[in-house]
Amino acid sequence: MDLAEYQKMLLPMSSQWSWLPQSASTVAGDVDWLFYFLAWTCGGLFLLVVAPMIFFAFRYRRRQAGQRALSQKDHDLKLEIAWTALPVIYLAFLFHWGFVGYAQIYTSPGDAKQLRVMAEKWKWEVTYPTEDGGFKTKDLAPVIAVPINQPIELTMTSKDVLHSFFIPNFRVKHDVVPGRYTQLWFEATQLGDFPVFCTEYCGTGHSTMAAIIRVMPLEKYNEWLEVSKAEDAKTANLSPVERGKTLYQQNCKICHTIDGSALIGPSLKGVYGHKVELESGDTVVADDNYIRESILLPNAKLVKGFPNGGMTSFQGKFKEEEIIALIEFIKSLK
Ligand code: CUA
Repeated sequence: MDLAEYQKMLLPMSSQWSWLPQSASTVAGDVDWLFYFLAWTCGGLFLLVVAPMIFFAFRYRRRQAGQRALSQKDHDLKLEIAWTALPVIYLAFLFHWGFVGYAQIYTSPGDAKQLRVMAEKWKWEVTYPTEDGGFKTKDLAPVIAVPINQPIELTMTSKDVLHSFFIPNFRVKHDVVPGRYTQLWFEATQLGDFPVFCTEYCGTGHSTMAAIIRVMPLEKYNEWLEVSKAEDAKTANLSPVERGKTLYQQNCKICHTIDGSALIGPSLKGVYGHKVELESGDTVVADDNYIRESILLPNAKLVKGFPNGGMTSFQGKFKEEEIIALIEFIKSLK
C-alpha cells in the first residue's frame, strides 16, 4: 500500500452528525447505542451535579466576615435512599447492557468461516483455508476479502511482539499475542473497503501496519478466492528477481524505497556494486556479502545518516534462496 492510499484511509469516515466512523457490522449498532447512551447520560448527570454546585456556591457564598449559616440540615433519609438507589439501577442497567454486548462480540457463532491472521512487524498476513491446504495473501498490506452477511472468525497470533487487530467500522478489536491464539469474529453488513489498524504500539512501523477489509458479495468473494489462489501458486516458480521483488514488497518496503528517496532506512536504488559510507567513517562496497550481512545482521555496518539501527534481523526468517532472490532484486535496481 502506498502513502496516498494509506492517507485516504485516515480521512474521517464518519458522517457530519456522528462521532464514530460509519458502522458496518452486526454488532456495530449496539456498540454505538451504548456509547451514545453513556456519553449523553454522563454528560447530563455531570451538568445535573455541577451546575447546581456552582449555583449554590455563588448564591450562598459568605457575604460578611464571620457570617454563619442560619440553619444546617445534616440528614435526609429519603434523599439518601434516592441518591443510592437511582445510581445503582443506572449502573446495573449499564452493566447488563454492556455484558450482553460483550458476550455477543466475543462469542463466535458456530458457523463462522475461519481465517488465520499472522501479525509480524509490520504487516498482517492472512491465510485462507481451502480444500488443498490453504493459501496466504501476498501483499504487504493485504486486502482481506470477506463475504457480506457471513460470520467470519479470525484466529490470530504474532511472530514477534504484541499487536492489536482493530476494524473501526465493525467496532471490534482484539490483541494479537505471540505464543498464543486469540479469536475475533465479525459479520459485515455493508459492501466496501474498511481499514484495519494495529492499535498496540509495536515499533517504528506501527502506524503503517494497516490492511483493508474488502466486503464482497458471496459470488465475487468466491471468484476472488480462485484468482488469489492461482496467483499464490504462480509465485512458487518466479524468476529470482521477481521472487525478490515479492519478498521486498512483503518485508522491506515500509523502510526502504527503490526510487532513491530515504525512508526509515536508506533507499536500495543503485546500491549494488557501489561504495557505501558508514556511520563508523569507513566505506564498504555493497556486494553480495555486504547485502547478505545487512539483511541478517542489520546493525553490523550502519549506513551513514542512519545511526539508530532500527532494523530487526531477518536471521532465520529467509531461506537461502530467498536471500539470493533479494540480492538479485537489489542488483536489478540500477
Ligand atoms: Cu503492530 Cu502496532
